[in-house]
Amino acid sequence: MTMGIQTESLTKQFANGVTALANVSLSIGQGEFVALVGRSGSGKSTLMNILGGLDHPTSGSVLFDGIRVDYHDRKRLIDLRRTQVGFIFQQFNLLPGLTALENVAYPLLFNYAPRDERNRTAMHLLTLVGLADRGDHLPHQLSGGEQQRVAIARALVGNSRVVLADEPTGNLDSKTSAEIYQVMREVNREKGVTFLIVTHERDLASYCDRTIELRDGKVVS
Ligand SMILES: Nc1ncnc2c1ncn2[C@@H]1O[C@H](COP(=O)(O)OP(=O)(O)O)[C@@H](O)[C@H]1O
Ligand SMILES: [Mg+2]
Repeated sequence: MTMGIQTESLTKQFANGVTALANVSLSIGQGEFVALVGRSGSGKSTLMNILGGLDHPTSGSVLFDGIRVDYHDRKRLIDLRRTQVGFIFQQFNLLPGLTALENVAYPLLFNYAPRDERNRTAMHLLTLVGLADRGDHLPHQLSGGEQQRVAIARALVGNSRVVLADEPTGNLDSKTSAEIYQVMREVNREKGVTFLIVTHERDLASYCDRTIELRDGKVVS
């Protein structure tokens, strides 16, 4: 069995006729830290959404640890998002009325974990991203970089083995961006979590183990 993520001839055609992905076959080992690059419109977000079970392919397959994802099984897809894959977005997407701790703990509500346990797990993860003393802050009381750290902690809360980050530093200055890469890298090293990170910036891609480039929906390297 191959651990990690594989895709086999993944193709996505939208209803308007756009082919966003064309026969994408790639393999990302468990624990790898990989950059996904390519021009705007090359299919990066489409690939991330399909890998994370937010969208389904027109044809082809995705395998997690050798197990084929069944895109018709909605329950299983929800499970995938809850327990295997975490997302980080450019816009942070924190819930504005919840504190940092509550934002991280929130996904655990759906696992029916008791409150104490939820808060303990969330605090552990906030500590991991360097925000132990910010648990009771609301998002608007945090800097962009701090908000993105909260989002990293939240992405890990279901014990995700894979984190998909779609331009996570697109709204951050270069110093803060480098810090966010360092936080993701520490999580990768300490917990063996796989990261696939979309980035426009070459120097950020250089933090990664390797780079996958998409062009017009195809893998070029
Ligand atoms: N929901 C959609 N419906 C139709 N076309 C889409 C949709 N989402 C993306 N596309 C198109 O698919 C292509 C790839 O888009 P996307 O994956 O967002 O690229 P990237 O993230 O690399 O900028 C683009 O041509 C885009 O316009
Ligand atoms: Mg995109």
